[in-house]
Amino acid sequence: MSRLITNIKTLVNTRDTSVLLRGGQLKDLPVIHDAYLIMEEDRITDYGMMKDLKKKSSYFNDNTDAAGAIVLPTWCDSHTHIVFAGSREQEFVDKIEGLSYEEIAAKGGGILNSAEKLNATLEDDLYAQAAERLREVVKLGTGAIEIKSGYGLSLEGELKMLRVIQKLKKNFPIPIKATFLGAHTIPAAFRQNREGYIQLIIDEMLPVIAREGLADFIDVFCEKGFFTPEEATKICLAGKEYGLKPKIHANQLHVSGGVQAGVKMNAISVDHLESMDEAAINALAVSGTIGTLLPTAAFFLRMNYQPARKLLDAGCAIALASDYNPGSSPSGNMNFVVALSCIQMKLHPAEAINAATLNGAWAMELQDEVGSITRGKKANLIFTRHVPSVEFLPYAFGSNLVDKVMINGEFVVDTEAEA
Ligand code: NIG
Ligand code: FE
Repeated sequence: MSRLITNIKTLVNTRDTSVLLRGGQLKDLPVIHDAYLIMEEDRITDYGMMKDLKKKSSYFNDNTDAAGAIVLPTWCDSHTHIVFAGSREQEFVDKIEGLSYEEIAAKGGGILNSAEKLNATLEDDLYAQAAERLREVVKLGTGAIEIKSGYGLSLEGELKMLRVIQKLKKNFPIPIKATFLGAHTIPAAFRQNREGYIQLIIDEMLPVIAREGLADFIDVFCEKGFFTPEEATKICLAGKEYGLKPKIHANQLHVSGGVQAGVKMNAISVDHLESMDEAAINALAVSGTIGTLLPTAAFFLRMNYQPARKLLDAGCAIALASDYNPGSSPSGNMNFVVALSCIQMKLHPAEAINAATLNGAWAMELQDEVGSITRGKKANLIFTRHVPSVEFLPYAFGSNLVDKVMINGEFVVDTEAEA
């Protein structure tokens, strides 16, 4: 099946190759105005300016008039926790009344609250809840996603989460990567024996997860009160033995040494980065590790935003992701992530779009599949409503400007193959 798309107002992020973008390179967002795009089956095969279109429309099985829509690669959301049970709006109210994230965690709220709910939820129900969230974000333009475990905190619970992710991979047409986050916090049963929980992760969880092929990456919440850089290193190195590359929660609440620990292990990414000092920025800048910024988590927790400009000035590679989870970012709307990064972190729209597409793809090792308009990549595309410019997208932050989403060359109607 071949398809020609004509009359694209602006075709965004057109690239011959998919290099990871660092520092000043993110400012360059290649576009073609008044463009066409050609696909065979699920892949992009060609694109260019309308005036250079050689083949006649009758040559194609299908012709689609984009009628002046802007077309972008779909968002690559490289950090989410969308497999969770229920919600935590009571904590949202607690926070309004003055309690801090750490105080809520200390009184059994936070991650432990979600763990309790998750362990009491049947796998099928958990799947149904996660699938609903995934359907929602695909309609908002997400065309590749990473999903973490970490609300099970027991062998059974973590396996249940990872099996749900495996089923999402099977049933949804978008690329999905699974990350094992057994080290999200110390569960209540191990409060007096943290070493025992770490050994449970290494000796009992990891071997089963690896044997059953349930994870692509490993993650640790490296933070004061959660896991130290030394513990994070021990857990991630054990994961590496099974071929799971690290992606680490680092420097969210404190300057914790998590960034340096991640860099030292060649982590694919270190994520959050609300609390950065010069040493952490410099360590990241000279590394091959991506700094993944999660502005909606900072927004929701009323924290300082990630120092995006400093990171870019230092030459870091940055990605943007939603962190969709019940505690610190109960939204997976990447359009808002992009807008917020422009409004509050002063990213240029070009930088934000690059960080949420191509660099996000790199942060999931999906750079050969998605993240840009490149020959051979999947035809996973956002078609916008009528808007005057690319910059209008983050500017008009409260409107849903995504008109249609295409995944694997097909417009999304119902994203799931089967329930
Ligand atoms: O990425 N920081 C750790 N984990 C999540 C929040 C988890 C929760 O509160 O449920 C995050 O923000
Ligand atoms: Fe997270």
